Amino acid sequence: MANIKLENLTKRFGENTVVDRVNIEIPNGTLVSILGPSGCGKTTLLRMIAGFETPDEGSIFFDQDSVVNVPANKRNIGMVFQSYALFPHMTVEENVAYGLQQRKLSKEEIDARVKQVIDTVHMKEFQKRKPKQLSGGQQQRVALARALAISPRLLLLDECLSALDKKLRVEMQTELRKILEESKVTTFFVTHDQEEAMTLSDFIVVMNKGIIEQMGTPLEVYEKPKNKFVASFLGKANFFQSEDGTSFAVRPEKIHLSAEEQAGARQEGVITFITYSGNITSYTIECDGEAVLCEKQNVQIRENLKKGQKVFLRWDKDSEIELADE
Ligand SMILES: Nc1ncnc2c1ncn2[C@@H]1O[C@H](COP(=O)(O)OP(=O)(O)OP(=O)(O)O)[C@@H](O)[C@H]1O
Ligand SMILES: [Mg+2]
Repeated sequence: MANIKLENLTKRFGENTVVDRVNIEIPNGTLVSILGPSGCGKTTLLRMIAGFETPDEGSIFFDQDSVVNVPANKRNIGMVFQSYALFPHMTVEENVAYGLQQRKLSKEEIDARVKQVIDTVHMKEFQKRKPKQLSGGQQQRVALARALAISPRLLLLDECLSALDKKLRVEMQTELRKILEESKVTTFFVTHDQEEAMTLSDFIVVMNKGIIEQMGTPLEVYEKPKNKFVASFLGKANFFQSEDGTSFAVRPEKIHLSAEEQAGARQEGVITFITYSGNITSYTIECDGEAVLCEKQNVQIRENLKKGQKVFLRWDKDSEIELADE
């Protein structure tokens, strides 16, 4: 467990600056998601923290210790990558014990620790199996157990759930959250799935083209995104111009729709598209040539809102998110 500080961390590949003066400070025991589009520098950032890439500039501190010159195998980091890379010829317990054997612990210590982490990830009944006899989610839990076994100062998880189907992924997210709360290990979790980042993290770091666009709690980055990029990368957003020319965003669920004209209506338009997805219905409304998205919880079925129908849109002033750009 450690407090992690990245200062002006920068990595270039040739002319290309892929991580650009990144500053992050993370308290002990927190779970931070790094979220951003493909190629924005997430894995490179993790690889620098792990010690597999050398930064061109900047520092990395674990607590008070600068680790830039510490080799990867001395940083005491647990890692799980997208491909779990379990040793195929070893059983679950041998996989989990591997890192401990490298550290030359006694057999008793190793056995006790292996038992403990296998219990944590609920894999006791599978401990004699080899990876190919396990499902994707089970393999993923073994990979996590192997990373946790060494009691790392820091856990780095890079898209480790993305190979799983949606249902299993959601189950594993909850599971992972519980395991990490129990083990209290500081964790960096890389994903490009915004829902996953929201569900799992204490903090979200939104990256774009090597820079940090915004960092905050899930609530802060969703409710108060600083700019268009963050507003549209994290959830959906409608963009409007104020009379003074500045722009603002309104989340689709904050827009009220009504078939009758109502006081305070901000826009009117025609429903051009409706999609029903069980718990919510999404309406696309064409207002002055612009498409506006509105989402409603299906607390009741609104049969009165149909495609081609004229509707009035209203939202509260405090649902307007001021944006820094444009
Ligand atoms: N060893 C390398 N040499 C040259 N360029 C590299 C190298 N590793 C990564 N890059 C480039 O650096 C940029 C960032 O890559 P990185 O793997 O960090 O992205 P990412 O955010 O993890 O993307 P993804 O979501 O697709 O995994 C990309 O443009 C990539 O092509
Ligand atoms: Mg990556």
